[in-house]
Amino acid sequence: MDVDAAKRAAGEAAAELVEDGMTLGLGTGSTARWFIAAVGRKVREGVRLRGVATSRASEELAHERGIPLVELDAAGVDLAVDGADAVDRRLRLIKGLGAALVREKIVAAAARRFVVVIDEGKLRDPLGGLLPVELVPFGHLATLGLLDELGGGFQLRLDAAGRPLQSDNGNLIADGELPLIDDPEGLGARIDAIPGVVGHGLFCGMTDLVLVARRDGAVERLTAPGSLA
Ligand code: A5P
Repeated sequence: MDVDAAKRAAGEAAAELVEDGMTLGLGTGSTARWFIAAVGRKVREGVRLRGVATSRASEELAHERGIPLVELDAAGVDLAVDGADAVDRRLRLIKGLGAALVREKIVAAAARRFVVVIDEGKLRDPLGGLLPVELVPFGHLATLGLLDELGGGFQLRLDAAGRPLQSDNGNLIADGELPLIDDPEGLGARIDAIPGVVGHGLFCGMTDLVLVARRDGAVERLTAPGSLA
């Protein structure tokens, strides 16, 4: 099974968790889109579902697939399903290569169940890789200077035209290369403490279940210690 088929298997496996009447968090990226497509099929079959999109791209896809969209409110969502860039055995994640990390984290935090869908190439122990951070444009050079103290050589992400990429929130994205993150919670807290940072791609203690599509076609379930997922 190639990587795309594995992403599809993981996304479609997550759709089996969907029940009539649910409000769903719709993730962003090439794996989450298979979940959204499967949710669209359920809506066409008459299952009553509503979605909260984590990005403009997922909003467009949900529209195309006929999924009714709602704003996130205090009631939260029943189930959020999203991809990830790296996952360790304690279900800590790096997210944000699609630049949607802030909305994704807001929706994950508002979910009664947060399920992550990946192909097995995303498993990393210890956690590490490219870590995205969203910054407000004001004073971003000063913010980058403070991020630089953490290592990783944080630099602004550029768009296809070579300009600083703008997130859906109108902010900037900086990426740092951190191949080995021994203490994801501690690093996340240090980044959160930097003024000018809106959010970062470390998601710790948020995930209930990871569905990992293996190259042989099997979908494995990894659950968080103490989770009922
Ligand atoms: C979007 O901002 C990201 O967090 C994605 O969820 C993540 O990059 C995984 O994307 P793929 O499923 O396309 O690899």
